[in-house]
Amino acid sequence: MDIIGVIEGSDKSSSHSFAWDYLRHYESLFMPWRREKINLIEVGVQYGPSLHIWEWFFTQAQIVGVDIDPACAAYARDRVAIEIGNQADPVFLDRLCASYPPTIFIDDGSHRAEHIVVTFERVFPRLLPGGLYIIEDMSFHFGPAAVNWQTAKQVDAPGYFLNLSKECMARQPGNRFVRQIDQIGFIGGAIIIHKRTEGRDLGHALNTADAYLAARKRDADALDRMAYYVLRHNGPLARAEQWVDEATELGGDTMPRLMLRGEMNLALGRMVEAVEAFLAAAAYPVEGTAQQHYRLSRFLAKYEQLEAALGQARVAHRLAPRNPGYKNHMDGLAEQLAAG
Ligand SMILES: C[S@@+](CC[C@H](N)C(=O)[O-])C[C@H]1O[C@@H](n2cnc3c(N)ncnc32)[C@H](O)[C@@H]1O
Repeated sequence: MDIIGVIEGSDKSSSHSFAWDYLRHYESLFMPWRREKINLIEVGVQYGPSLHIWEWFFTQAQIVGVDIDPACAAYARDRVAIEIGNQADPVFLDRLCASYPPTIFIDDGSHRAEHIVVTFERVFPRLLPGGLYIIEDMSFHFGPAAVNWQTAKQVDAPGYFLNLSKECMARQPGNRFVRQIDQIGFIGGAIIIHKRTEGRDLGHALNTADAYLAARKRDADALDRMAYYVLRHNGPLARAEQWVDEATELGGDTMPRLMLRGEMNLALGRMVEAVEAFLAAAAYPVEGTAQQHYRLSRFLAKYEQLEAALGQARVAHRLAPRNPGYKNHMDGLAEQLAAG
């Protein structure tokens, strides 16, 4: 891809008066979609060299160039659409993403700090699962010339994305984007943000699990873990239930297994059976971990079993007295019960 960039005179290549040297990275990053029917949107067309590179690399993709300059409409052709608009305009971005749900989105537009953040916040939630969001040329935002890339609203674009990276590292779910991000990377001046995929190839995973379990001594806890995996990834519940049944045959009821059965019943819409399983888990004579009791307490509280929920909250608090979340939860339940 780099050599095509060199031929097209692209500054994304490794040989140009201002060589950002992105293309050798893009080649491997974009490879999974080389022959796929995806939409690639790039903000910033100018003279169009990058559009030639994408058109050459992707054999099926719809390429969409976006620019504020109406003259760029002249670069539209066959698999290349041009949309004229302002990347700082959320209504325009919504319309763009609705017309061409993007798998790859490249921001090589105004490079203004405010526009970069506005565009990211508007587009990233609309990027398809597993997609890539790329912001090029972040180096402009360092040193004395950084001021040239500000708008009236002063925004610290590198700070914004560094902070987002830190929040991902800390797995802070408070940030609304963190849960949607799989990976953040930096290549030279560009930021690459990988969006999480929604589902996994469960079919392949479950067949591998079957083959692996068949060759291994049957183990009730391993079957529980498989059932939980299926629940967590919205897999076939009937199969998960079979695993829990088999685990129960092998290892009998345990508190976590009864909870799992409760969760499975919830997923299957069997509320009465779910509550029964949660109550059975609460009555189980062997203690689990503080976290298990806390989780169980939350389920019980949600389904209006407040006495049992408080009992479980007390166990969680006794096992982990320094956890403020457990204590708050327990106190809240006690207050609710006292208030009748
Ligand atoms: C760096 S050039 C794009 C280069 C092109 N991607 C390439 O690799 O050859 C930046 C382009 O962004 C466009 N632009 C500037 N402000 C914009 C905005 N607010 N919205 C959309 N495009 C904008 C400019 O008109 C210019 O053509």
